[in-house]
Amino acid sequence: MLSVVVDGFFGDTGKGKVVSYLSLRDDVDIVVRAGVGPNAGHTVVYQGKEYKLRQIPSGFVNKRSKLMIGAGVLLYPPRFFEELDITDTKNRAYIDFQTGIIEDRHIEEERGSEHLSRKIGSTRTGCGAAMKDRVLRKLKLAKDIPELKPFLKDVALEVNQALDKGERIIIEGTQGTFLSLYHGTYPYVTSKDVTASAFCSDVGVGPKRVDEIILVFKSYVTRVGGGPLENEYSEEEAREKGLLEIATVTGRVRRAAPFNFNYAKRAVMLNSPTQIALTKLDILFKEDYGKNKFEDLSKEAKNFIESIEEGLKIPVTLISTGPDTEQMIDRRLELGLL
Ligand code: IMP
Ligand code: MG
Repeated sequence: MLSVVVDGFFGDTGKGKVVSYLSLRDDVDIVVRAGVGPNAGHTVVYQGKEYKLRQIPSGFVNKRSKLMIGAGVLLYPPRFFEELDITDTKNRAYIDFQTGIIEDRHIEEERGSEHLSRKIGSTRTGCGAAMKDRVLRKLKLAKDIPELKPFLKDVALEVNQALDKGERIIIEGTQGTFLSLYHGTYPYVTSKDVTASAFCSDVGVGPKRVDEIILVFKSYVTRVGGGPLENEYSEEEAREKGLLEIATVTGRVRRAAPFNFNYAKRAVMLNSPTQIALTKLDILFKEDYGKNKFEDLSKEAKNFIESIEEGLKIPVTLISTGPDTEQMIDRRLELGLL
């Protein structure tokens, strides 16, 4: 049983929270991280503790889950080792032999680049520079780094064999559909494709193996860095509405806009989701904070969710009502999807 989790806007929709919830609720065997690399920050709040993860998959909260990083992903070893400590996952974290390695010179190259730092508003984590070297076929891979030896695995083989055995697997995507190098708002995008198809390729599974594609939308849209954002609020408006967020990796203020059906419909087209996860509902509807049952939601929140289901023709199965992993409405059972 393979699920792919993909972001339908510009990143920062709460994929980390969704993946952490699913890893526990569905007792997932393997959570494998796809996407670009340590430019992504996934936040998990579990048992009163907040974790900001850039390499280790958010499914670490399930102590039984194996945690893997795909061949298409970039790894910055110092950050990886730091997160192994924070999450205490040395004995169940694995990296593909062919995962690409970010070196300090890649980070320096981005810091020194006017184009990336100023125009694009890159996270300056070396991802774009490392991808460039990968395309030129001179990037080091995980198998070239002695300290990574204990963690190396053929992740593609592991994942495919686990699927043959009927195990449960989540592919955790990063960034967001409109940051895709191919389908996003070029040049204001990241250095790879970040749609569901790309995440399969990052790990090494064929598209026919996928059972569920969970498209994550936040109840409003945010973006960090440069590039277009339809119906953008001024910083003042965003603050008044309680939508001002600070970016996990860079500490920048995120730009904000209302939920956007143009983006959402195109994200559906690009990712072919079977389900939608809607996050931060409690930010739009304060009275719905922490609720665990759909029927307990306010009339306004229910109407909002219905308008999404009608507009997109995909069921909203997971609804996040607070930052904690447990603050989730899960409608999969009642909708016959579990
Ligand atoms: P880069 O991927 O660091 O080169 O950044 C390119 C653009 O993508 C910038 O606008 C970043 O702010 C944005 N970006 C990259 N990763 C993420 C993410 O995980 N969340 C949100 N924005 C991101
Ligand atoms: Mg993020």
